[in-house]
Amino acid sequence: MPKTNKKINNYLKSQSDLSLLRFITCGSVDDGKSTLIGRMLYESQMIFDDQIASLKKDSNLHGTQGEQIDFALLVDGLSAEREQGITIDVAYRFFSSSKRKFIVADTPGHEQYTRNMTTGASTADLAIILIDARLGVATQTKRHSFIVSLLGIKHVVIAINKMDLVEYKEDRFKKILEEYKKFSKKLNFESIKVIPMSALKGDNIYNKSSKMKWYKSSTLFSYLENIEVKKIKGNGFVMPIQWVNRPNLNFRGFSGTICSGILKPGNEIVVLPSNKKAKVKEIILYKNKLKKAFKGNSITITLDKEIDISRGDIICDSKKPLECADQFNVNMIWMSENPCLTGRTYIGKINTQKVSIKILEIKKIYDVNTLESNSGKELPLNSVSECTVSFNKAVPFKNYLEDKQLGSMILIDPITNETVGCSMINFALRRSQNIHLQNLTINKKLREKLNGHKGMVIWLTGISGSGKSTIANALEQDLYHKGNKTYVLDGDNIRHGLNKDLGFTDKDRVENIRRVTEVAKLMLDAGIIVIASFISPFRIERQMARSLFQKDEFKEIFISTPLKVAEKRDPKGLYKKARAGKIPNFTGISSPYEEPLQPDLVIKTDKISVNKAVKEILNLIKL
Ligand code: ADX
Repeated sequence: MPKTNKKINNYLKSQSDLSLLRFITCGSVDDGKSTLIGRMLYESQMIFDDQIASLKKDSNLHGTQGEQIDFALLVDGLSAEREQGITIDVAYRFFSSSKRKFIVADTPGHEQYTRNMTTGASTADLAIILIDARLGVATQTKRHSFIVSLLGIKHVVIAINKMDLVEYKEDRFKKILEEYKKFSKKLNFESIKVIPMSALKGDNIYNKSSKMKWYKSSTLFSYLENIEVKKIKGNGFVMPIQWVNRPNLNFRGFSGTICSGILKPGNEIVVLPSNKKAKVKEIILYKNKLKKAFKGNSITITLDKEIDISRGDIICDSKKPLECADQFNVNMIWMSENPCLTGRTYIGKINTQKVSIKILEIKKIYDVNTLESNSGKELPLNSVSECTVSFNKAVPFKNYLEDKQLGSMILIDPITNETVGCSMINFALRRSQNIHLQNLTINKKLREKLNGHKGMVIWLTGISGSGKSTIANALEQDLYHKGNKTYVLDGDNIRHGLNKDLGFTDKDRVENIRRVTEVAKLMLDAGIIVIASFISPFRIERQMARSLFQKDEFKEIFISTPLKVAEKRDPKGLYKKARAGKIPNFTGISSPYEEPLQPDLVIKTDKISVNKAVKEILNLIKL
């Protein structure tokens, strides 16, 4: 069966006019995805002789199928995967039949790898969802089906695999089919095809199974070859700028990959968000000048006049400009062990742009088993939800179902740099388009001039009893007597007024710091030296606070005291109560404190006096 290299090449040439179907496979770890893909590659004769030889050798070494070929080894390329017996990354495979070309993203089934599944799903036309015939419809099957539907995939094949292990019984197939159909009624699929199979034995993959004569419909291959999928209608020309290409003073090109539409020299484009317009002079692909460029082409363009364009800007057809907005209703898939909290700010990547994304509200958290939704305050690992979010700046976008690339984003934890979530835009919130920043004549610079000094935020963080308030108080007196305009924002005081409604859960602390940071920002705009004294136990919020200010406007000072010392001081008697179980979520005892990793200054209050601490801070801020 396997072909030689030459035969493969001829074969591929003859395939170049065939239509392309992109699909993903998903299911639980042991449902047999890799075996299925391996089997498809084998049956479509896309394996070289030498690959078969090494596969046979590998099957003996690592295989789980005794003397038989272990097809999973063909696709589980990474050695780590082989050792663990699971697939851990998205792998794209190419193969074709006489009727069609296929690209399959093999996505892992481990719960924590939902992330990889969403990566694969964003470009797919169809999803194969595997079910182990012995186990039936599992929670993971439902989660994957739901995510697949949210990701806008309209066609699914439910592959009821391992039929050999249930004696190829029709009853079993029917029971699973009914259960799945009942569940999937609420999902937005255009077609659902349910096929009984054994990827391992080859039943109903390429050839009809002689063991399941009761199944009269198509095999997997013939179904995939014949299904018609509508491609989303393209929008006008859109290209996010990935790189400003300036090899010498005479050349200034803008590079990116066209994500929709066609571009020709002479076309007028508009740059978003600046709204500047220009005409395309040349389109360059590698060393060639093009007369026309299409979706998917990675090109460099030059323009007829000099305009400012930077990485992350989007250029589009000037007659069909994209909308820009900074607040959205989105569907969110959360992929981190650390829950997502409202009020928290993450780094967002949308197209080639980086933005700050704040979670404004969690509107619905879905139960993937029933598809019903509940309200909730935080998003746990693998949850699927609907939220509202705001960006720190307006970006050009499309709703996800109109354009998957322009309508989706990933969220990154600013401290660990891990991808923690992915979001699909449902729609922009109208309020974001109707509120505009008002330009005022008297600005920060003028206010600072009148005050005779610059504004600044001195952020003191540390556990309760570490000495933050004492140091803040002494520091303010010193600055005040030297004629500076100052204000102390203190945790206990603010919680008597503005933040009276907040307690000490993680979510409430996030909101506490969010509001306080906004207040500090206003005070800084008024030209004041703000001393903020809050436990502020989470790095991510302190980082968010820092990110709102210029580099020299914000100083993070760690008031460091061993818990034992703070507990001994216990100025408000709170540690005693907390130890007696009378205060829940008490920092250092039943709630975490994350020490700063790179503070601007550390003050060890068990080692130095208040006066010395004040001097060190004055020295740092050079006032
Ligand atoms: S933060 O964690 O949200 O930054 P914040 O600095 O505003 O806290 O308030 C901390 C003050 O509230 C403490 O100094 C203490 O007096 C008081 N407090 C009451 N309950 C708690 C608690 N569970 N944990 C920490 N501080 C508490």
